[in-house]
Amino acid sequence: MFVIFLGLPGAGKGTQAARLASQTGLVHVTTGEIFRENIRNETDLGKKAKPFVESGRLVPDEITIGMLLDRISQPDCADGCLLDGFPRNTSQAAALDEALSAQGRAIDKVVYIKVDEEELVRRLAGRWSCPGCGAVYHETSEPPKEAGICDSCSSKLRQREDDRPEIVVTRLKVNMEQLQPMLDFYRAQNKVSEVDGARDAEVITDALKEIIAG
Ligand code: AP5
Ligand code: MG
Repeated sequence: MFVIFLGLPGAGKGTQAARLASQTGLVHVTTGEIFRENIRNETDLGKKAKPFVESGRLVPDEITIGMLLDRISQPDCADGCLLDGFPRNTSQAAALDEALSAQGRAIDKVVYIKVDEEELVRRLAGRWSCPGCGAVYHETSEPPKEAGICDSCSSKLRQREDDRPEIVVTRLKVNMEQLQPMLDFYRAQNKVSEVDGARDAEVITDALKEIIAG
């Protein structure tokens, strides 16, 4: 099963995909995390992606599409995956459809996690992530047991470079421009379910599980 998580920055795509992956066994594929890992490791891909990621703009399709198609052709995605952060525009959506259809596969569901802009800004300003295991916290809604320290692996938590307020403005603008055309693209295929993402994370996970099972 291939499930796409659509939503603006801070909507909870990563949080929900991680929760569902641990509860369902489906693999969580996140393009943002692939880019950040390559930037940390200073790979060629990381060097190309860095100026885009750190300024809140989309990495060009020539780089992103090939990287994602390569990732989902790995054996752990043979039965599908949860796609978080891809596609980001209709060219990426069309390239994904084409690649899956060539293998006799298709996207099964698209979930749009909807959250208003004020709450998105609040979430991004208070997000702390673990560089060790990737766990994500929020200083008020999902705090770690000890401030600044990961509950799971005890690494020191960090804030993302692109969560600085001036970069958040760009990320929201760039993603808002692309969201509606993507929703139209998948609504034409009757694949979109909309979820109210302003509720507690557990309630949203239950709603997503029902959608995926249905
Ligand atoms: P990416 O890493 O995907 O960033 P994003 O889309 O901006 O989304 P976020 O990760 O910021 O938000 P999220 O929805 O995952 O929220 P989270 O669960 O963390 O991409 C980064 C960059 O990489 C892009 O800007 C671009 O440059 C590049 N890139 C990636 N993919 C690309 C592509 N396909 N094409 C081109 N470029 C690409 O939650 C946020 C916070 O809220 C956390 O603190 C969390 O604890 C809290 N929270 C979550 N749920 C709840 C809840 N229900 N209630 C209260 N708090 C909550
Ligand atoms: Mg994320």
